[in-house]
This record gives sequence, C-alpha cells and structure tokens, in this order.
Amino acid sequence: MFFGKKKKEAPRPRVCAVIPAAGSSHRMGGENKLLLELDGVPVLAHTLAAFERCQMVNDIVIVARETDIVPYHGLCQMYGFEKVRSIVRGGETRTHSVLEGVRSCPEGTDIVAIHDAARPLVSDAVICAAVSAAAEHGGAAPVVPMKDSVKRIADGQVAADVPRESIAAVQTPQCFARSRIESALVRAIRRCLPLTDDCAAFEASGLPVAATEGDYRNIKITTPEDLLIAEALLKRWEE
Ligand code: CTP
Ligand code: MG
Repeated sequence: MFFGKKKKEAPRPRVCAVIPAAGSSHRMGGENKLLLELDGVPVLAHTLAAFERCQMVNDIVIVARETDIVPYHGLCQMYGFEKVRSIVRGGETRTHSVLEGVRSCPEGTDIVAIHDAARPLVSDAVICAAVSAAAEHGGAAPVVPMKDSVKRIADGQVAADVPRESIAAVQTPQCFARSRIESALVRAIRRCLPLTDDCAAFEASGLPVAATEGDYRNIKITTPEDLLIAEALLKRWEE
C-alpha cells in the first residue's frame, strides 16, 4: 500500500460566465442581431450552449436590454439551459452592461469569464485556456495573430509601419478575478475611459492580463456579412 503524502490540489475556482447581450445592433441595421438565426438556431443560443457545455463554467449571467429580458427567458427555457442564474438589465455602454453582469454573479464566484453574446462560435478550448490562465495570473484574454499589415494613419496619410509581431487581435472570453475586475470597471467608468473591451479596464488599473490562444473562427457578428461567414464555418464544422 502507498502511504506517501498526497499532493494537495488547488481547489477548482467557481467560474461565472457573464454574457453582455444588451447592445443595439446598430451596425447590423438595428434588429437584435443576437436573435437572428445561424443554422436555424439564434446567435445567443449558440453562445449560451458553448458555456453550458464547458465543464469549467458553473454559472451564467446574461445582460439584456429591458425589452429583451422576456424573450431571452423564453430562449433559455426553449433550449433548456440550466446554468443561467439571472438575466439582468444592461447599461448605456458595454462597460456599464458588463459591470451589471459582474455584480450579479452568484456569491462565491472566483473568476468571471466575460464573453460577447455576439461570438457564437467560441470553442471549449478557447474558454478553458482563458479561464485557467486567469485562475493562475488574475487576468487573461484570448488573442490571435494579425493577418493584415497594420499602419498608423495621420491626416489621411500612411504615417508609419506597426510591426505585426508586436500586436494581436483580442477576443473574448476575457477572464478575471471577480473582485479585481469589478473595481477596475468602476474606476474606468468614473474616469470616463472609452473602452472597447474589459482588458483595457484591467490594464488601466495597472493589472497584467495574460495572452492565451484564441481561434480565428471565434468571430464577432457585427455586420450582415459576418452571418454568412459564421454560417459557412458552422456548416464546415458539422461535416
Ligand atoms: N453590449 C451590451 N451593452 C451595450 C453595448 C453592447 O451588452 N450597451 C454587448 C452586445 O450585445 C454584444 C457585445 O456587447 O454582445 C459586443 O458589442 P457589439 O458587437 O458592438 O454589439 P452592439 O453594441 O449590439 O452592436 P453595434 O455596436 O453595431 O450597435
Ligand atoms: Mg457596440
């Protein structure tokens, strides 16, 4: 019989996915893009299914516009999502919406995984890599290398090259220690920082964010042609 000391494993963090879904779909033409269908299933249902399936995720909080709360409830019932704990009202900017979501996470949440509802093709591998890195480092976000060359533009002129190796496109889920991201978001809102993602709030508070492996398929549905691309990616996956 083996009497050696058992190695103490770190307790698994409690993870809550916060899904901001309270935007106005302006660039899609105004109709709620999250209720448009991809392969016969609403964009939002694809997104929620990815977190429902992920074994590292315990809970889900959805952030919605007031008028969408009832339709989103119906969608959750229809698809039988069991991890959704609440659907809360969003704010005028994405940062306000995310803060509402973070504040509504169940007690005992260690890590929040903030994921754009508009990224329905996120894989389990991308979610798990970002959650694990956040548990270790405090903050993490998936990135992919840039495919295009990038230039700095000034007065309508190409002013300078930006070395491609020094930049990356950042995706979601962006994952953070819950207590730290809440205060970083509050601070960013108080200082009126114009943020397009949550890493920016974390970094503005002087906190480091680890870069994890993203996926080119994890696109954000923003304009009508993105739906065609997502549909094509889904079809290829199912083959
Ligand atoms: N979002 C949100 N609350 C806001 C603004 C955005 O919850 N006040 C959410 C969107 O629903 C989306 C994600 O943040 O899932 C990323 O935003 P984006 O792709 O820009 O969506 P919209 O803001 O809806 O689109 P647009 O900017 O074209 O209006
Ligand atoms: Mg927007």
